[in-house]
Amino acid sequence: TLVITSTCIDVKDGICTTACPVDCIYEGERMFYIHPTECIECGMCESICPVDAIRYADEVEESQRPFLALNEAAFHDA
Ligand code: F3S
Repeated sequence: TLVITSTCIDVKDGICTTACPVDCIYEGERMFYIHPTECIECGMCESICPVDAIRYADEVEESQRPFLALNEAAFHDA
C-alpha cells in the first residue's frame, strides 16, 4: 500500500483522488486516507501531491510511521 502522511493534514488538496485508478483514497476530517487493501500500489498518487504527503509504506520516514496505522484505522468501521 501507499500511505498519506502529516503534510496532508488541513491541506487536503485532493488531487491524489483524481490520479488513483481504483478510487481507494478517501476523505477524512482533517486529511485523506489510502485504503490499505484496495490500493494496488501503482504509485500514481505519489508524485502528484503538491505537499509531497504520499509514500510507499516501506519508504515512510521514521517520524511518519504512525500514519501507517492511522491510514489503516481510518477504515476499521467501514
Ligand atoms: Fe492530501 Fe496531497 Fe492528496 S494534500 S488529499 S495527499 S494530494
